[in-house]
Amino acid sequence: MIWLMASDSIYFDRDKDILKKKIENALTRDHSVCDKSKIDLVLDEMDEKIYFNPSKRKVRKIIGKRGVVISSFPPSHYGYDDYGVFSTIEIKGDNFPFTVEQEAIGVSKSLVMENIVGMQIMQTDKTLKDLVGVERLHEYLRHKILMEKLGISRFRGMFFFGVAGSGKSYTAECLAGELDRYLVVLDLPYIMSLPSPTRRLDMMFDMLLRQKNNKYLLFIDEIEKMFDFGGVNLAATQVFGKLLTRLNDLYNDPKSNIMFFVTANNITKIIEQNPEFLRKGRFDKLLFINYPTLDNAEKILDFYKERARVNLQRVFCESIGDSSKAFYRMAQTFSGEGGDVSRCEYLGEHLFISLRSSIIMRHIEEKFRGEKINPAQRYFIYTPPEINAFVETIVENYFVAAVDFFEANDRFGKIGDIIPNVEKFLDEVASEIVPLQVSAREGIARQMAQAMDFSKSGSTPFQEIN
Ligand SMILES: Nc1ncnc2c1ncn2[C@@H]1O[C@H](COP(=O)(O)OP(=O)(O)OP(=O)(O)O)[C@@H](O)[C@H]1O
Ligand SMILES: [Mg+2]
Repeated sequence: MIWLMASDSIYFDRDKDILKKKIENALTRDHSVCDKSKIDLVLDEMDEKIYFNPSKRKVRKIIGKRGVVISSFPPSHYGYDDYGVFSTIEIKGDNFPFTVEQEAIGVSKSLVMENIVGMQIMQTDKTLKDLVGVERLHEYLRHKILMEKLGISRFRGMFFFGVAGSGKSYTAECLAGELDRYLVVLDLPYIMSLPSPTRRLDMMFDMLLRQKNNKYLLFIDEIEKMFDFGGVNLAATQVFGKLLTRLNDLYNDPKSNIMFFVTANNITKIIEQNPEFLRKGRFDKLLFINYPTLDNAEKILDFYKERARVNLQRVFCESIGDSSKAFYRMAQTFSGEGGDVSRCEYLGEHLFISLRSSIIMRHIEEKFRGEKINPAQRYFIYTPPEINAFVETIVENYFVAAVDFFEANDRFGKIGDIIPNVEKFLDEVASEIVPLQVSAREGIARQMAQAMDFSKSGSTPFQEIN
């Protein structure tokens, strides 16, 4: 008795000829499950008798007879061992893991996939436009995308190493959006907590590869935290080995619909214990991303200032209709009795025109001059998220001061009234945003040193790109 386990309703078709064709197709397609002689055997047995979703009693009766059971459940569901009594084969639908029913009622594909193998699948609206102040990285990515479009070379995989907050995860997000690929976040610790993690990992890769009409960016974040690179934990070693094999296959498969993006904060252990991970032919490039240079930091600052300005404008304009808000009173005062909404935009500009980026940069540089880990180098002390936090704090502090001023004077002041001393204002903001390079000096110094040690010896597998 052969037991076909089928989750898709297409295998419950009562027309024997149609059904045989469908099953033959499925078995041939999933060749790793069956060889030709086994397929013939299944088809022969189907000529005898087919039992669709039999009851427990029925199953007991037909043991030892010839024929095929087609059930949505495995024999264990009926209390039978997988081995001996039945020969069990799983047949997958044409759109596995999705069934025809799921597609018919529009169940979200990412939800189905998430449930099956523990991974998040997302679409992102970020693109390379949102990645600023990293000109060389931009150029590299644009170049790779163009080569792929022209069919000259494929964009396969990247390994990204860099200090905390340098933009590793963010780059993956922007790249996925730019390439119109789903971002698949691989949750390796979760996969490792399952009963057969290597099988799950295989299943996940197979599932993505089957979705030929979709393109994915497989994102494996902070890989060093997911493995015991000492090789003591057997399960982790096996999963790691499996991952390497699968990444290798993706790298070499010209038809692959998956590109991959791996990040790490710490590569010392990987280099010492699993150097094969970084060998040539596994990633297109191994990149190191450092703190932004001063020029780049200014561009990032401009980017976040502009975003804050647009936000401010929106907040003001929305609050025009809400008299309970302090914003409303300020906006009314500023835009005149008629509440001329178009003038609200000046409120944001009001702030940022007077706080020019060059002034902010100079102030921060002076404030932290003695605290840089590598003072000789032309890197800024803040990472992009710290620059962002700086801009947000400027906005908040400005409003606190503006509301205070309004309340005391019953009129909206000029910028000079609200921020009479720019240096002092910036100093207060900077005191709130202590750079990680200062508060976690040793850890960051270690991260930076990793990349520098390699480059000093001339043997770095990483290329610095900012
Ligand atoms: N080049 C950039 N342009 C604009 N914003 C950036 C850039 N790089 C980083 N950011 C901002 O900084 C935030 C943090 O970056 P991200 O999470 O990618 O850092 P990371 O390198 O992954 O850090 P960690 O090592 O802590 O995971 C992002 O969400 C993004 O808002
Ligand atoms: Mg990250």
